[in-house]
Amino acid sequence: MANIPVVAIPGDGIGPEVTKAVQKILKAAKAPIDWLEHHAGLAAIESSGEVMPEGTVEAIKKCAVALKGPCTTPVGEGFTSVNVQLRKRLNLYAAVRPVRSLEGVPTRFEDVDLIILRENTEGLYSGVENQVTDDVVMSMKVATQTACMRMSHWAFRFATQRRRKRITVFHKANIMKMSDGLFLKCSRSVHQKDYPNIDYDEAIIDAGCMKIVQDPNNFDVLLLENLYGDVVSDLCAGLVGGLGVVPGANFGDEQAVFEAVHGSAPDIAGKGIANPLALLMSAVMMLEHLADERSNEECKAAAALIESGYRAALRDGEKTGDIGGDLNTDGFADAVIKRLGAPAATA
Ligand code: NAI
Repeated sequence: MANIPVVAIPGDGIGPEVTKAVQKILKAAKAPIDWLEHHAGLAAIESSGEVMPEGTVEAIKKCAVALKGPCTTPVGEGFTSVNVQLRKRLNLYAAVRPVRSLEGVPTRFEDVDLIILRENTEGLYSGVENQVTDDVVMSMKVATQTACMRMSHWAFRFATQRRRKRITVFHKANIMKMSDGLFLKCSRSVHQKDYPNIDYDEAIIDAGCMKIVQDPNNFDVLLLENLYGDVVSDLCAGLVGGLGVVPGANFGDEQAVFEAVHGSAPDIAGKGIANPLALLMSAVMMLEHLADERSNEECKAAAALIESGYRAALRDGEKTGDIGGDLNTDGFADAVIKRLGAPAATA
């Protein structure tokens, strides 16, 4: 069977380092992928003068799948986030972030198994900001029935396919009665009408966050609008070892872009010490997606080999500094490659 063309966007900061490590592992696992490298973010400004080159968007449209490293966004000024631009341009409206405990990464809680589903296209990320007077600026939180319904349907369909039992919506509809109110109304109606077999509940986000850190095992699937999903993803990453171990994917109806939850980590960029595991787990999600969508057994086999490899490496204490080990980025990649296909741990 011919290899599958996939767009690789190395990104900024630690992006190129972790992307290189992940590509090395996928190659060793004989993943049937042909990488087409394209740029976005600061790296794209350097190579083409544009932050979001049209060629990158067109390549993803053509391939339908991309693996993306993190892209830096200037704080308080400068260009609009490349991540936000890409999600909007490609209508990647549903973000999935599985947050799971890993053997060999000790944390305060055991057996965490949460999935965060984030609406990716609107809310306060709509980028509608005005200088109203010299004294006043305004950011608009936009919610549309179309996007809220689309996300709700996607979330319940996903939960059903993954045999998850319960969806909890985090909201602040006591204050933002119209925007968060609409998100809730849509989630409730999709649940009642089409998915009564999935349990459904709601939590005001502040109390919900408190309950998560008290005991994450009280939750199953969390459904959130854009900004809440962003914040709660990092909060939950902290429950299982940090940003180095939480993968993600952004889905639209036509394309999917796989990327870690973490950013470009300028504080450690260029040192070769970043944990490539979050991007590696995102790549495993990508291979599983390709296996399902295209009935590709080689992708399925490569995903299984890699997952067994990183699980065995962590069990053996072979890990990067952010999670208590002493390996660098390349050292961890080599430790995974050495263990590809290792048998699962016996209980
Ligand atoms: P960050 O996620 O880059 O870093 C937060 C902390 O986690 C830092 O101490 C960093 O060293 C650590 N960290 C993150 N990933 C790590 C890894 N793989 N291994 C070891 N340690 C890791 O968040 P920050 O500093 O808020 O953002 C930096 C830049 O990244 C900003 O420009 C931001 O806009 C951008 N960003 C991009 C994202 C994307 O491209 N999807 C997502 C989040 C932030």
